[in-house]
Amino acid sequence: MERIKFVDINRFHQPIREELLEAAARVIDGGVYIGGKEVKDFEANMAQWMGVREVCGAACGTSAIFSVLKGLGVKKGDEVITTVHTAIATAEAITLCGATPVFCDLEPGYFFLSASEVEKKITPRTKALLPVHLYGQPVDMDAMLAIAKKHGLPLVEDCAQAQGAKYDGKYVGTFGDAATFSFFPSKNLGGFGDGGAFTAKDPDKMKWMRMFSNHGRMQKYEHEFEGINSRLDTLQAALLNVCLPHLDKWNAARREAARWYDEAFAGVKNIIVPKVLPNTEPIYHVYVVIVPDREGLQSFLKTRNIDSGVHYPMPLSLQKAYSRFNQGAGSFPVAEDACAHMLSLPMHPAIRKDEVETVAEAVKEYLSK
Ligand SMILES: Cc1ncc(COP(=O)(O)O)c(C=O)c1O
Repeated sequence: MERIKFVDINRFHQPIREELLEAAARVIDGGVYIGGKEVKDFEANMAQWMGVREVCGAACGTSAIFSVLKGLGVKKGDEVITTVHTAIATAEAITLCGATPVFCDLEPGYFFLSASEVEKKITPRTKALLPVHLYGQPVDMDAMLAIAKKHGLPLVEDCAQAQGAKYDGKYVGTFGDAATFSFFPSKNLGGFGDGGAFTAKDPDKMKWMRMFSNHGRMQKYEHEFEGINSRLDTLQAALLNVCLPHLDKWNAARREAARWYDEAFAGVKNIIVPKVLPNTEPIYHVYVVIVPDREGLQSFLKTRNIDSGVHYPMPLSLQKAYSRFNQGAGSFPVAEDACAHMLSLPMHPAIRKDEVETVAEAVKEYLSK
């Protein structure tokens, strides 16, 4: 039986292969590999696409969050509230600032952080809120914005998995004081290596963050302060410029594939399909189901040549890297339970209906045993 890949990047890049090769050749022949027109164009194109004043490219999503938090003044002794269920990058960016990530459990039934948990965790040391639109499912932004406003806290949206998702008809990343993105190859707007971007509403802060990302400078050899090297490569920018116009179409294809899965699993016992808020347009970075015996199902799918993934096997609280926070098992019951039972099924913009049906049939066969 033909293997069904978890993500088949080559397949959806195939129609734009020639354009990608031309863009790569243009950069190679042009001899400018850091900064330049391609980066400026990409930043302008992405800003125009999402309807914000300015976007700054970054070396990756992690460094984009780090630059943004530094620009918001997050420092040693501060706390930043985020979800316990996310890629470690979200929390790493906080600790890189010397601050403490304060984890929140999930909203029951969803994969994003619970607003009531966020409110409970606010202390005088809280410096920012950092919700994550995990799996491309927008967080309850009304609740987040209300909390941020009530407590006078900046709100940063981690949109690494949600580029193109909408809340109340508007792209995520346009709600908070700042937003960050990742172009890791498997992301919805994936590059051909590492890459990322950020945007911030306050022009002065945005300028500082841009400078921080580039050794604290605007002009070569004029460093106003110390920063880091977190620039988007010219080659990545050129290739992303080719991909960006296809993003909304690719996301729509993912939504359609999710609908095929939802329909196939309707009425099936022992499986919970992704639940999204009604005022949102998710983009299914991954399609995650909850099942009683995740390991068993994953092994069974393997025998059918079907790839799957687990995003993520444990919440950050249980990672060795964060054992110093002493938040052992039982601290985040909703996330811990979800992590033990979740499985990500094959999902990408070029997945075919017959492939989704094959996966769904195999899942149903296992669940009916
Ligand atoms: C939610 C989330 N935040 C941040 C990141 C970091 O992005 P990057 O891998 O580009 O550093 C990722 C990607 O792994 C992510 O999934």
